[in-house]
Amino acid sequence: MTAVGIDAIEIWTGKLRLDLPNTFAPAMGEDPEKYTKGLGLESSSFPDVYEDIVTMGANAAKRLMDRKGLTPDDIGRIDVATESAFDNSKPVSTYIAGCLEQVYDGDFHHANKGERKFACLAGTQSIDDAYNWIKAGRNRGLGALVIATDTALYERGDPGEATQGAGAVAMLITENPSIVELSTEQGYGSADETDFLKPNQQFPSVDGKRSVQVYLARMREALEDYESVSGDTHPDDFEYIPFHTPFPGMVRKAAVLGYRHMTRDTDVEEELAEEIGMQPREEAYDTREDYEEAIRAYMDELKETDHYREWYGRTIEPTLEISRNVGNWYTGSVHIARLAALRDALESGHDLTGKRLLVGSYGSGAQAEIHAETVVEGWEEHVENIEVDDQLARRYDISYDEYELVHDVHNHEKETDVDRFSPPESEFVFTGWGRMNERR
Ligand code: HMG
Repeated sequence: MTAVGIDAIEIWTGKLRLDLPNTFAPAMGEDPEKYTKGLGLESSSFPDVYEDIVTMGANAAKRLMDRKGLTPDDIGRIDVATESAFDNSKPVSTYIAGCLEQVYDGDFHHANKGERKFACLAGTQSIDDAYNWIKAGRNRGLGALVIATDTALYERGDPGEATQGAGAVAMLITENPSIVELSTEQGYGSADETDFLKPNQQFPSVDGKRSVQVYLARMREALEDYESVSGDTHPDDFEYIPFHTPFPGMVRKAAVLGYRHMTRDTDVEEELAEEIGMQPREEAYDTREDYEEAIRAYMDELKETDHYREWYGRTIEPTLEISRNVGNWYTGSVHIARLAALRDALESGHDLTGKRLLVGSYGSGAQAEIHAETVVEGWEEHVENIEVDDQLARRYDISYDEYELVHDVHNHEKETDVDRFSPPESEFVFTGWGRMNERR
């Protein structure tokens, strides 16, 4: 069977940087450690006044096409995953294709285009669609361009304001991929939820505390559903576990839940028993509530053990490295977690060839998807050329007053005229509603 998976990845960060402990925290009258230690964030990326989901997506895609030496003739499908769309009819992929056609010979008239929505999960769902399209033999040998692009902005004063972010991830899905091969094993946890939604509104209505619980519940269901296909998991089965990362503190909570689940009935549970006892078994408790309380108490002890700390430091912590500096990129978030994992392995000389990743995607509304990927030979060469550090370092640091101005610019309800903060560097820029974006 032909392998299908991710052949190339490029990112585009919003070009402004908001420093959370040094700029945002003092303005909010909060302890900086709430952001750095509590939420696990250092800074967030913001779009400059000439950036939007189209320009960021087109710029990431151009970077990818140039590095791979692709032309429109090599691409048979463009899917955009976003939850920041501004057009209820035309998919964002048509706007992005329009940008790319300004700079390449040829066009995308032959390419199937669409837009995928399921909150932050849609990036992974677009990869699934591309996988299915290729596996079905409908791709005529061509690759699929998947672009996850979002401006994750919250109403001013909303607790979610600390977790904002903006950026795009472009990924090429092909046969015989160069980075990871996708597997057929997937698990889902899906339920109708109303903790985070945007019905005809730009900024989300959020019940933040509940959203954390919903994330954990759907992720646990997805892991159980995944195991119904793959068989029981063990924490040592995977080199890294990239999760959807609205903020790193969320992943800390999901990780201990996953580790508890994966160690049940294993040698690790036996080894841990001397220190913290065996895991609670439901049949030993009179009520479900008593059992759940016992599990919570067990997990509190579990996360303090050397076993857990070592595993967390090796498989989870490295996946958070980009997120903690850019905030939530919604549909792109889990894909920058995967990228951070691959970069960590590259930097530490850890050969991942043939090794597996377990990818935990999530979207509010709500659905979690867990699937496995296998890293393929030659991955290093394709990961080392992905430009990350330089673009993060080039961002313009905004003051709190500038943050207030730029937030207003991106609030579609307000008319605001603000000068750009950073000069465009040969890139697509937003030139106004109803007009084509241009390259400047
Ligand atoms: P909050 O209520 O302002 O913060 O906002 P908090 O008081 O809960 O504090 C956050 C953490 O910092 C806590 O840690 C505090 O203890 C700690 P925890 O107890 O949870 O481990 N803390 C401190 N630590 C050290 N020093 C201090 C200090 N002070 C506090 N001085 C909330 C938190 C998550 C509610 C908010 O950021 C929010 O509403 N965010 C948006 C919603 C969100 O991201 N939810 C995550 C799950 S849903 C999801 O992932 C989907 C999403 O991406 C959207 C989509 O799918 O489309 C959002």
